[in-house]
Amino acid sequence: MRKHIVAGNWKMNNDLAQTELLITNLKRQNKTSNAEVMIAPAFTNLWQAFQTLKDNSIEVIAQNMHFADNGAYTGEVSASMLKSVGVHTVILGHSERRAYFNETDEILVQKVNAALSHNMRIIFCFGEELSDRKAGNQETVVENQIKNALFHLDANAFKNIILAYEPVWAIGTGETASPEQAQDMHAFIRKTVTNTYGPELANSISILYGGSVKPGNAKEIFSKPDVDGGLIGGASLKAEDFYAIVNAF
Ligand code: 13P
Repeated sequence: MRKHIVAGNWKMNNDLAQTELLITNLKRQNKTSNAEVMIAPAFTNLWQAFQTLKDNSIEVIAQNMHFADNGAYTGEVSASMLKSVGVHTVILGHSERRAYFNETDEILVQKVNAALSHNMRIIFCFGEELSDRKAGNQETVVENQIKNALFHLDANAFKNIILAYEPVWAIGTGETASPEQAQDMHAFIRKTVTNTYGPELANSISILYGGSVKPGNAKEIFSKPDVDGGLIGGASLKAEDFYAIVNAF
């Protein structure tokens, strides 16, 4: 069976004290679902997040990384630096990175290759903009984003890849894709993977949905057969809300 995963992308929120407080509150929550739970604090708070979590099963992951191992890349963080503090999973290709930091498919190929060469897991994000959906181009856009960044990989590499469909028009807007829109796109993504890598691999890959997932809509979205979890922004910043979403499985 595919893994259910709920990951909180904290984005550029929470200083050190706020990180400790939120994690302390997360540890108090009651988990009733079988979903793997992950949180992605800011780089500066990753180490402390591990210390505060101690033996809790929540996984601490990173929001981004550079493709180089080290060198003259002022302000950047490498895979080996992340691994040295205990991080084994990284979010790559988030639409905010693509839009505000000019991350192209070519850069993402390098980041994907670097993460995999360090044996890290990747939550690979993609999704169309509102103009793409209005023009009916959402499937073409999504297909190209996946193919351009991932389809050079061997089938074996996909055991370390989690896909995250995040329609840009639904991120932080309060506007969620309907459960049917999410299901349609997730089924299309699985078909795209099937066409190149076959049904067995496609059926084993977790595809998360992200974009205004809240306690009130999570259950319906997660009930769809091709939705294997969520990548949660705003609602991951409140422990009760985040666990209401985790427990929607
Ligand atoms: P929101 O849940 O705030 O819409 O953010 C989604 C997201 O971008 C997660 O990566």
